[in-house]
Amino acid sequence: MRFQSPRGMVDVLPEDQPYWRHIIKSSEKLARSFGYERLDPVLIEDTGLFLRSIGEGTDIHDKEMYVVGVLGRPAEAMSELALRPEFTAGVMRAYLEHGMASRPSPLRLYSLGHVFRHEAPQLGRYRQISQFNAEAIGSLDPALDLEIMLLAWGFFEVNGVQGLSFQVNSTGCPRCRPGYVAALRAYFEPHTARLHGDDRRRLEVNPLRVLDSKDEATGALLGAAPQMLDYLCDECRAHFTELRGYLDAIGRPYTVNHRLVRGLDYYTKTVFEVWGQAGLGSQNALCGGGRYDGLIELLGGPPTPSVGFAAGIDRLMLTMKALDVAVAPLPAPQVVVAYLGADAKLAAIQALNDLRSAGLRATAAFGDRGLKAQFRFADKAGAAYTLILGSDEVAQGVVTVRDMAKSEQTQVPREKLALYLTERLA
Ligand code: HAM
Repeated sequence: MRFQSPRGMVDVLPEDQPYWRHIIKSSEKLARSFGYERLDPVLIEDTGLFLRSIGEGTDIHDKEMYVVGVLGRPAEAMSELALRPEFTAGVMRAYLEHGMASRPSPLRLYSLGHVFRHEAPQLGRYRQISQFNAEAIGSLDPALDLEIMLLAWGFFEVNGVQGLSFQVNSTGCPRCRPGYVAALRAYFEPHTARLHGDDRRRLEVNPLRVLDSKDEATGALLGAAPQMLDYLCDECRAHFTELRGYLDAIGRPYTVNHRLVRGLDYYTKTVFEVWGQAGLGSQNALCGGGRYDGLIELLGGPPTPSVGFAAGIDRLMLTMKALDVAVAPLPAPQVVVAYLGADAKLAAIQALNDLRSAGLRATAAFGDRGLKAQFRFADKAGAAYTLILGSDEVAQGVVTVRDMAKSEQTQVPREKLALYLTERLA
């Protein structure tokens, strides 16, 4: 039987590793420069944590979570666990579980890793997703909304991606949102017959999600629909105005997008997304986030206003490729050791050991192939030096060192080999 990776889950091959290395290194450096510390929450959590945080009527809650079981255990004997579909809920669970509220506030945390969503796969939309996630926990100050947005912006900048657009909106709070939801429902009431089945259901369960609809008929109706910004309470309006003031002061262009609501229910006040240029089909949201002032309370903690975002690394990588962003190749082996004969093989194994202990990158073809094949291997590996060990070299206690670029050979005593190569490769 031949196996394949599950649909929508993609292996990262060696040739794509330079992008990953670049993204991980640059984003960790950026996060630290903003004062964020790394937290790695566990990959699997109680399903209830996600259901509660993400909210009914959202795609993740209703149909995209991978529930995890143990083979051989009856379902009723297992507590229900799920693969994380995002980071925020797990980071908040960890924040509460480890009493992190006693740490200096706001607590700034970032995470890197996989999340899983059972979505319909297409270019730029996967089921195993890599995210860079950041959360600033414990403050209502709009300056933190700005900080999170600047961190998101910086994330794309340090990865060589420009020409992005920042979409911003406010989704209000539990005080002002119900008024808006009622207005939205009232607006759509006479038009429900024209709505697609999904949108009709959304209007009932989670009306804000209608704003996000990709359906043309709904889109046409949305042009004249009421806008959240007209319904904000004084506190939410002041918050949004202050944030816009900071964005303007810092000279970051952005678009106020009245239809931006995001696909998760925990958001309050600010929401934002970063959109890329064409090339990813409809999957051009490179990053999304916002405030979630009620989430920690919902999970049993004290009121703890917070803000954060996550960026998709898979989509970023596609964008970097489309934009021809140059990334440094990963270091190739510096030395390949070739040998002929059993005694020489032993000497080769010892030489490899010595070179690696001296901090050099050294490898061998093995498999007792002919010298020509071993040279070809060294060529393909991109090694600067090939070492040749045959019976003569073993008898004399030397190694023949071939400089691959100059096609020159010289003999070096075995005990001086590591030093000889270290000096030349420095
Ligand atoms: P999200 O918008 O669901 O937000 O996901 C963030 C980013 O992950 C998206 O903008 C996109 O780049 C990437 N992404 C999501 N789904 C897929 C997919 N199926 N395939 C490829 N990439 C995908 C969150 O996850 C929130 N937890 C963000 C947040 C943090 N809000 C506050 N704190």
